[in-house]
Amino acid sequence: MKDKCNRKIKHIRFSVTDKCNFNCIYCDNEGFIPKTTELTVEEIKKICRLLAEILNVTRIKFTGGEPLSRKDIIPIIQQVSDLGLYKDISMTTNGYLLYEKAEDLVRAGLNRINVSLPSLKPDVYKKITGSDSLSKVLKGLNKAKEVGLFPIKINYVMLKGLNDLELEDFIEFSAKTGYILQLIELHARSDAIGKEKEFYVKYHLDLSDIIKSLVEKAVDVKIRGLMQNRKVLFLSNGAIVEAIHPSHEFCMGCTKLRVGCDGNLFGCLYRADRGKNIKNDLNLNSLEHFEKVIREVVDSREPYY
Ligand code: 5AD
Repeated sequence: MKDKCNRKIKHIRFSVTDKCNFNCIYCDNEGFIPKTTELTVEEIKKICRLLAEILNVTRIKFTGGEPLSRKDIIPIIQQVSDLGLYKDISMTTNGYLLYEKAEDLVRAGLNRINVSLPSLKPDVYKKITGSDSLSKVLKGLNKAKEVGLFPIKINYVMLKGLNDLELEDFIEFSAKTGYILQLIELHARSDAIGKEKEFYVKYHLDLSDIIKSLVEKAVDVKIRGLMQNRKVLFLSNGAIVEAIHPSHEFCMGCTKLRVGCDGNLFGCLYRADRGKNIKNDLNLNSLEHFEKVIREVVDSREPYY
């Protein structure tokens, strides 16, 4: 299904909970505050089946809050994987519970992970996440690699004056471990969760120049056309860096649909208000009805930048 800008929906970003055991200062809450309770495993499975059948999507990423803090996260992955409709099942996690859950996640059908890692220095890490657990997360990453999650990506949101001098360290780390480094520009929070302009102004760093100089140094550069036109840079030390820098070009390359943990279906991080909650419709069993709702949400998509 294509939207009005001729963008085909290719993947789903599904928040399974708004709860989190961290308190990251930059957190965007995935763009919304849930209005009702969390979906059950059964409801998640139903929505995943409908989306795959109606949109022909085969890629899904689970997020939160912190997805691993849901006690039934393994059955969630297992049930969605058992549908046999998704060929790429991934997750974004803070990594705190990764060490103990990585093996079961793989067994349940998870293919790969992205781990939020805003600093490689324990004190800075704690300042940003509110949790003194850098070494635990690094152990979790190791475990994830050991049990075959691949690729592993590191989400490094750059914050002015806090962790912006660590780029070289992250590039070294990426080369050494084989984890892909996602260099992410801080974005403002959506209106739906209350913009905090002050925070954004204080910590936002425009990454254009940094990305430009990395591109100049890179031995190869690719564009991920299906993923917001992201640049992928291959550096001489073996590190792979993906640059995530919001722009019109970035929005025009967006091919994703979002599901909130309460069943709200929406098309843009900044426009949860245009969403449609489908939780209460799930027992209707009318494919026609869902096609109509999904069409409406897809039609509401437009580039934010
Ligand atoms: N700006 C940029 N990226 C953010 N993330 C969360 N909040 C922000 C923000 N304000 C990203 C982080 C995290 C993922 C879940 O979302 O990369 O790993």
